[in-house]
Amino acid sequence: MDKKKFYITTPIYYPSDKLHIGHTYCTVATDAMARYKRLTGYDVMFLTGTDEHGQKIEDKAKAAGVTPQQFVDNIVCGEKGILDLWKLMNISNDRFIRTTDDYHVEAIQKIFKKMHDNGDIYKGTYKGKYCKPCESFWTESQLVDGKCPDCGREVEDAEEEAYFFKLSKYADRVQHLLEDTDFLQPASRVNEMVNNFIKPGLEDLCVSRTSFTWGIPVDFDPGHVVYVWVDALFNYCTALGFMNEKYDDYDKYWPADVHFVGKEIVRFHSIIWPAMLMSMGMPLPKHVYGHGWLVMDGGKMSKSKGNVVDPYVLAERFGVDALRFFLLRTFPFGSDGNFSNELLINTINVDLANDLGNLVSRTTAMVEKYFGGTLPESRQTDALDDELISQLSALRGKYEAEMEKFQFQNALELIFKCIQRANKYIDETAPWALAKDEANKPRLASVMYNLLESIRICTVLLNPFIPDSCEKIFAQIGACECCRDWDSAAKWGSLSATVTVHKGEAIFPRVDAQKALEELEAIQEAQKKAALPAMEFEPMAEEKVDFDTFCKSDFRAVKVKACEAVKKSEKLLRFTLDDGTGTDRQILSGIHKWYKPEELVGKTLVAIVNLPPRKMMGLESCGMLLSAVHTEKGEEVLNLIMVDDKIPAGAKLC
Ligand code: MSP
Repeated sequence: MDKKKFYITTPIYYPSDKLHIGHTYCTVATDAMARYKRLTGYDVMFLTGTDEHGQKIEDKAKAAGVTPQQFVDNIVCGEKGILDLWKLMNISNDRFIRTTDDYHVEAIQKIFKKMHDNGDIYKGTYKGKYCKPCESFWTESQLVDGKCPDCGREVEDAEEEAYFFKLSKYADRVQHLLEDTDFLQPASRVNEMVNNFIKPGLEDLCVSRTSFTWGIPVDFDPGHVVYVWVDALFNYCTALGFMNEKYDDYDKYWPADVHFVGKEIVRFHSIIWPAMLMSMGMPLPKHVYGHGWLVMDGGKMSKSKGNVVDPYVLAERFGVDALRFFLLRTFPFGSDGNFSNELLINTINVDLANDLGNLVSRTTAMVEKYFGGTLPESRQTDALDDELISQLSALRGKYEAEMEKFQFQNALELIFKCIQRANKYIDETAPWALAKDEANKPRLASVMYNLLESIRICTVLLNPFIPDSCEKIFAQIGACECCRDWDSAAKWGSLSATVTVHKGEAIFPRVDAQKALEELEAIQEAQKKAALPAMEFEPMAEEKVDFDTFCKSDFRAVKVKACEAVKKSEKLLRFTLDDGTGTDRQILSGIHKWYKPEELVGKTLVAIVNLPPRKMMGLESCGMLLSAVHTEKGEEVLNLIMVDDKIPAGAKLC
């Protein structure tokens, strides 16, 4: 019999910057779902990829001095690029699409033409507001405080000849889809879409651009490129072979069972996407699930804020499975979650090291110690076992119900309740006491078997989340292939009665929280710095100064006769200067951070000499030394203005 099919996708990522932990979150969730479905016997297609066109990429490539193709190739395929990241994170995608792939480009041209030929795409003039970073056009009414409703940045006026998609024609059908079916999940996202976008009136969507060239050309109208979201959304079909010869899986897998997407792109997936599919006469995906964001201190991670978290750093430091686990265990999938290093370390220590890791290592150690590693056949059960066995026997059903609703956190909570129950069972049965009397061996064997069975069932169900660690646990508890599958997770007693365990290394070592936090902070601080712009300058003053006012300032060349640090001040240097008058001038300047006093003696500097005297640290300062200031990698840099030594002290600068 043919297996049941399950088609699941992540969004395709913009290769405009390195991906961060937020992107990893969505891909890990999709991976867990894909692995879960495979475990339950489905024939799964898991697609991810990259969304490589658009003005933002064109601009970034220009700034980097490379072609857009070179730019995206580097971020997608280069060292520690997107492909490397998914490999590291053990992502089991079946296919990877790049929107610059030839087959996709050809298919998009055909799709665009088909919607044009059926009258749903027509030519007009676009006038409106454009958010460059989001590649989104907005109507006036959609703006929030005059800014992009997605990212809050400035939008710009834009006007160009363009093609439009008749989105308005599909408004009623899309509204019905959202309100009367479970297409969009969680249900809490429906109101936002209907009230903010559909009810105010869906306008036709501008679907071509002429202001840049890095996109898929509209083949029947040179100069126009296809709007990046049309290009991007259809990836879900072209990657299966829709309107191209590269693959032949469209009939097999379409429609998708679910698109996992972040909340800010729910609009594209739940309004524009179904409308375009309706126009093409294609079946609609069964579900779109809008997950929340990982935020830092309540705000979105962004490179410009310098608060992006690098998944490479965390995976290398704590292990891939610990990171995968943390992401899905800690935050409910539909809501935002506040990321912190403390939370990550705490989850690893409490759940993985203490609860799960200890259960496995204590149990295998006891089986080795009391039975030489292999359980004997004789048994003695006890009423004390009933609660544990019934809780574990019911686990798969409850877990399945949560997984089917994409509630990863709840599914993991159920597993960890069982793990905690098993740890408590060790305390209740006190195997170390039983071991003292040979007559208790059958009872002790039962206790050990019950513990191993509990671990086995939990491990089968943890497999979608932490696959590598589960392999290790299975090996340690001696679980053969036939008791690692989905059916066996509902069958208490699947493990061989005379199982042999192999105690190994701790699977989840405890993390020294203080040390790890310090290390992470240092790495993250260095990364933040590296991401800062190389150099920044104060904006030019807008206010004008009239010429006479300017001329009142008296700038003079001064020679440094002596210079010393001011006692009890970290910043101040005290200068004794020859200003050409024959009387020494004293100036204090807060530049100790940049100069050693002795290196300035003998230099010719520039001072403004007609400022009123000021007292600093009890000393009088008569004037100010001129310096040039800028910011480098976030740090202020100061250079004193030094002039040619030929210039005599007292010479006026004008
Ligand atoms: N290219 C579009 C998607 C096109 S799909 C046809 C895009 N790309 S993206 O790279 O900007 O974002 C990809 C996904 O990552 C989105 O679902 C987005 O919500 C998700 N995330 C980006 N930052 C995130 C967090 N901080 N937290 C959780 N998910 C986040 O949008």
